[in-house]
Amino acid sequence: MSSKEQLLAKIENRTACIGVVGLGYVGLPLALEFAKAGFHVIGYDVSERVVKALNSGKSHIQDVSSGELAKLVKSGKFEATADEARMREMDAISIAVPTPLAKTRDPDMGYVLAAADAIGRNCRSGVVVVLESTTYPGTTRELLQPKLEAAGLTVGEDVFLAFSPERVDPGNPTWNTKNTPKIVGGITPACTEVATALYATCLETLVPVSSTETAELVKLLENTFRSVNIGLVNEMAIVCDKLGVNIWEVIDAAATKPFGFMKFTPGPGIGGHCIPLDPHYLAWKMRTLNYKTRFIDLASEINSEMPALVVRKVAQALNEEKKAVNGSRILVLGVAYKKDIDDMRESPALDVIRLLEQQGADVVYHDPFVAKFREDGHEHASVPLTNEELTRSDAVVIVTDHSSVDYQRVLNMAPVVIDTRNATARLSAGKGRVVSLASPSPFVVA
Ligand SMILES: NC(=O)c1ccc[n+]([C@@H]2O[C@H](COP(=O)([O-])OP(=O)(O)OC[C@H]3O[C@@H](n4cnc5c(N)ncnc54)[C@H](O)[C@@H]3O)[C@@H](O)[C@H]2O)c1
Repeated sequence: MSSKEQLLAKIENRTACIGVVGLGYVGLPLALEFAKAGFHVIGYDVSERVVKALNSGKSHIQDVSSGELAKLVKSGKFEATADEARMREMDAISIAVPTPLAKTRDPDMGYVLAAADAIGRNCRSGVVVVLESTTYPGTTRELLQPKLEAAGLTVGEDVFLAFSPERVDPGNPTWNTKNTPKIVGGITPACTEVATALYATCLETLVPVSSTETAELVKLLENTFRSVNIGLVNEMAIVCDKLGVNIWEVIDAAATKPFGFMKFTPGPGIGGHCIPLDPHYLAWKMRTLNYKTRFIDLASEINSEMPALVVRKVAQALNEEKKAVNGSRILVLGVAYKKDIDDMRESPALDVIRLLEQQGADVVYHDPFVAKFREDGHEHASVPLTNEELTRSDAVVIVTDHSSVDYQRVLNMAPVVIDTRNATARLSAGKGRVVSLASPSPFVVA
C-alpha cells in the first residue's frame, strides 16, 4: 500500500494519531472535535501553562467547557504536551499558531516558522500536515513545503500538505467548528484528498479547492469583505452625523431589501485577531508585487479613526455639560472587542481609553467578561457596575454592548451616555442625555 492509502485507512478506522499545534481559540476546539470523533489527539503547545491547565481539565477558551475537556482528558482521547518529540507519534498535524503583524504592519511569520521547523525536525513518511493559521497566499508552498522536503520527504507522495482556514466565530451560538463549512486546498490533488478525508471525520461540510493559494485567499477575501463593509458603514455613520440623520434607522430600513444588501453596523472600531490584521497580510503580499490594495488601505484608515471619533463625541457631550475631559470621571462599558466574549485582542476600547487618558480623564471600566487587563505596563481592573459608580461618573461610554448589562439602569443613573453600539435604542429616556455615534453635533458645520 502507498503512504496515501495507509494514511487514508488509518483515518477511516480512527487509528491515526491526530496532532494539533497551538491550543488557542482555534486549535483547542478543533483538537476536541477530533477527540470526540474517536481519535487519540495530542495537542502540542509551547506554553507550559496552557499544557498544564488543559491536562488538568481546565479550559482557557470560553467556547470550550472545562467539563467536556475533562471528560476527554480522563478517557485518554485528548492530552496536551510541550514536548516537541511527541510530534513523531502524529499521523496528522493541524497548525493553529498566531499570525500577528509586526510593528511595521508586515506579517510576523515567526510562530508559523517555529512550528514548521519543529514539524520538519520530527516528520516522517505517511503524515498529513495542514496549516490553519490565517496568512498571505503562498505561505504553505513557500514556507512549509521546503521544511518537509528538507527532511527528505516528497510532498504528495510521502507526506501530504494542505491549507485549511479556520472560520471560528467566538461566542456565536449557531455556528461552531463542527458545523461551519471548511475550505481545504492541497499542494497536489492527493494532498487535498487526504486533508479532506481527515476533516470529514469530524466536520459536517468540506469544500475542496484547487490549491493552497486559493484556500489562503478565500480566508483573506472573507475577512477583507468584512473589513471593507465595516469601513463603509462607519463612513456612513460619519456622513449621517454631519447630515443629522439617524444611521441606525437608515441601516434597518435598508436591511428590509430582500436582495442585494447585507447588514453591517457601525461601531467604535474593529478588534480581534482577524479583521484588523488579516487584510494587511494580503496588502503586504501585493506590495511585494508592486500593487497597492486601495480598498484594504482605505477601510483600515476609516476603521482605525473610529476610536478618535468616539472620544470627540465624549468631549462634545461633556462640553455641553460645561465640563472638560480633563479631570472628568469616565466609565467605559465593555472592553472586549465584541459582545459576550472575553477577547481583548486589538479591542478599540484600548484606543478609546488611551485617548481619553491622554486628555486627562480619570477612566474606569466595567466588563462582565474581562476582570482585568494590562496595557502599556498599566493594570486596569473592572469596577462593579453599581448605582454609585454610574451616578458619580461624568459620562458613560458604551464601547461593547454585552447582553448581560442592564442598559435601562445605566440610562436611569448616568448623567450622559455615549452609546457607540445603539444598545439603548429601544429603552425609555433616563436621567441624562444619550449621545449616539451618529448624533448630529452642534459643533459640526454641515
Ligand atoms: N481567534 C479567532 O477567532 C480566529 C478565527 C479564525 C482564524 N484564526 C487564526 O488562527 C490562528 C490562531 O489564532 P488563535 O486565535 O487560535 O491564537 P491563540 O493565541 O488563541 O492560540 C495560539 C496558541 O499557539 C501557541 N503557540 C505559539 N507558538 C507555537 C509554536 N511554535 N508551537 C506550538 N504552539 C505555539 C500559543 O502558546 C497559543 O496557545 C491565527 O492565524 C488566527 O489568525 C483565529
